[in-house]
Amino acid sequence: MKTSEIFSRANAIAAKPLKELDNQKLNEVFADLKRRTPKSFLLSERAKGVLPNGSQHTLPLSNPYPFFMNKGTGSRLTDVDGNEYVDYILSGGAIILGHNDEGLTKTIQDLLQNKTNFHGHFDELELEAAEKVIDFFPSIEKVRFTSSGSEANSGAIKIARAVTGKKKLIKFLGHYHGWASEYLMDVEVPGSGKFVTNGIPDEHMDQTVLVPPNDLNALEEAFKANEHSGGIAAVICEPYGAESGLVPIDEDFNAQAIALTHKYGALYIFDEVVTGFRLGKGGAQQRLNVTPDLTTLGKGLMNGFPSCGAIGGRKELMDAANISIPYAHPYTYIAGTLSGNTLSMAACNYVVNRLATTNLLEQAEATASDLTTKLNALFHAYDSDFFAYYYGNILRVELTAPHAVPLTSAEALNEVVQRRKILSSYSAVVSSAGVLSRNGRDFVSCAQTIEDNDKYVLAYEKLLNSFVK
Ligand SMILES: Cc1ncc(COP(=O)(O)O)c(C=O)c1O
Repeated sequence: MKTSEIFSRANAIAAKPLKELDNQKLNEVFADLKRRTPKSFLLSERAKGVLPNGSQHTLPLSNPYPFFMNKGTGSRLTDVDGNEYVDYILSGGAIILGHNDEGLTKTIQDLLQNKTNFHGHFDELELEAAEKVIDFFPSIEKVRFTSSGSEANSGAIKIARAVTGKKKLIKFLGHYHGWASEYLMDVEVPGSGKFVTNGIPDEHMDQTVLVPPNDLNALEEAFKANEHSGGIAAVICEPYGAESGLVPIDEDFNAQAIALTHKYGALYIFDEVVTGFRLGKGGAQQRLNVTPDLTTLGKGLMNGFPSCGAIGGRKELMDAANISIPYAHPYTYIAGTLSGNTLSMAACNYVVNRLATTNLLEQAEATASDLTTKLNALFHAYDSDFFAYYYGNILRVELTAPHAVPLTSAEALNEVVQRRKILSSYSAVVSSAGVLSRNGRDFVSCAQTIEDNDKYVLAYEKLLNSFVK
């Protein structure tokens, strides 16, 4: 679907009153879920005593309470009460091959049996993993592994500052790059500004310049305005737009933004933590036919194995990443006890190799396409404004369009909050039909089948039948 169509359809949803669920039907859904998940209920009560706000995660569903999982295989998860779900949340995109992929599990078992989980010294696995990542991405000549996507982005920004000698970062409104202070502002909802920035000093935030996406004039103005107050070291970007394409970027925007960034002597960082392996083997950059200076990876790179992140780019940029006292310039310190550890490197090797030597990614994209077609046919049949689209195997389903509400007043902000809040009730209805869907911000793994898709469509049909008539 073209960006212009996505924007106009999202705007149309945002201009209409919110679709409310029928209270009686919603209560029936909650009663049914509570009857089927007593163990999850008890565990979620226990969690309230030991985890801040009873939660550790942002991704799982929480209505009526989080479901605790016991087992995963392929596209399916089974909770502690024995209920099976088709999982389209897939750990926010980290599960790309499917849960508990047989070959990957065997690789890790062999490693544990024959080597160790971690020895803290050099291992050939690190080189193989780096070589495979380099093979996938023409813009990458050297790789530094990190322990998360957030760390990768923080590292890339440090490299850009060290190499350019400049200070500031440009971040697009709504784009998410993790939870470090330099980019944890104006996330998810474009224009939400300092909504989630408690704990970050203003002086720190002053180093990040927020710019609306799809606006080259605003980008150029930001470069000019900051030229004499430290200058811009880097622009960081989610290649398909905020929330991996829920607020999309114009098709030719990145190419033009990269040219502008270079004109002002800054580096363009592509945050491919989600898109890296979901848009095909060369990531979003190959699809969009652009060459960023630095690329960050995470999530799918290790199919959910921990300590997962990487920074890659041209040799002369990457060589600024040091782990010792300065002996070369430019220099920046990027380390991490677990970065590039044996276990993660074995997982990375396996995943990248499997994706490189099969057509699994093409298959997953075909599955995403099938699901999108079926969902749009369903929405059309119900005369609903909802719509679905996909990028590679990233599935987006627009339901309440909170980010399309113009943030012009306090009431507008309240409207955004309501439009986001109600999504968790929508997800409860969908999960009661055996499908884990995160408010339309879903993914398709290589293990998903057409039957799984049909189940997803039925779950959304249940949702459509649960609204006030
Ligand atoms: C685009 C993007 N970048 C970075 C991150 C942060 O990655 P991590 O959670 O591994 O720190 C995320 C996580 O959701 C993401 O979606």
